[in-house]
Amino acid sequence: MVNSESNGKVALVTGANKGLGFEMSRQLAQQGLTVIIAARKLEAAVAAATKLKNEGLKAEAILLDINDSIQIQSAVQEIKNRFGKLDVLINNAGVMLDGEWAISNASSVSVDMIRKTFDTNFFALVEVTQAMLPLILKSQSGRIVNMASIEGSLTLHADPSSFIYDSKPFAYDASKAAVNSFTVHLAHELRNTPVKVNSAHPGWVKTELGGDGAMMDITEGAKTGVQLATLPDDGASGGFFHLGQPVPW
Ligand SMILES: NC(=O)c1ccc[n+]([C@@H]2O[C@H](COP(=O)([O-])OP(=O)(O)OC[C@H]3O[C@@H](n4cnc5c(N)ncnc54)[C@H](OP(=O)(O)O)[C@@H]3O)[C@@H](O)[C@H]2O)c1
Repeated sequence: MVNSESNGKVALVTGANKGLGFEMSRQLAQQGLTVIIAARKLEAAVAAATKLKNEGLKAEAILLDINDSIQIQSAVQEIKNRFGKLDVLINNAGVMLDGEWAISNASSVSVDMIRKTFDTNFFALVEVTQAMLPLILKSQSGRIVNMASIEGSLTLHADPSSFIYDSKPFAYDASKAAVNSFTVHLAHELRNTPVKVNSAHPGWVKTELGGDGAMMDITEGAKTGVQLATLPDDGASGGFFHLGQPVPW
């Protein structure tokens, strides 16, 4: 449903050519936002944006491999020239390189795999956010959503009664815990601005990353990120949420 407050708002979603990124883009555009679909292959971004345009939604495509600093700077320039501000950034692009959910591999996962995972899930997310921040501060209601994961929860990983207790792919989990740390630190730094920064756990969602065994469909999985991207001015900042409920850090 188009919301008049959303008209004129611009959202950038990374890794938006498929999965949760694409569905969150669709749901934001359904609320009236203009969504910039970012993907590391321009054809994939254009195809996804075209799909949304064919549904009558406002969508544009941008090339953005978040591991490429030059592409990040070009994206900032393009958004600056085209819109002059950014209202919503969803840091969605992510990888899980160390395999199945049930793996417990802290003693054996290669440092190379940990580095590669952190390059995308953490360092690139920080770099994109820092680069976009001047444009987000030009918005009257900037919202930054970091797609973390319940797998980043240290509290639940340490609790033998938690359902994630035996699910320990270390590289992925540590990268998402680091994302949560960024959320808390950035939210604190921006506490006297209109910008809200939160982490999202979407649920265990049927996507390429989530796999076929996942419990939640993509439409439902996109809801947490969309809620956090459209929080009212008195909404939370510096939190970690799933469908409106706090998730333990
Ligand atoms: N699905 C779940 O159950 C679940 C649970 C918790 C958290 N999450 C998080 O939610 C986010 C989205 O996951 P998903 O399930 O939708 O995964 P997905 O279907 O595998 O999609 C991941 C997206 O990230 C993109 N990407 C990866 N590396 C990139 C890079 N360097 N630059 C730009 N884009 C890049 C992929 O692009 P390509 O198509 O080019 O590969 C793809 O568009 C991730 O951060 C994930 O960790 C997912």
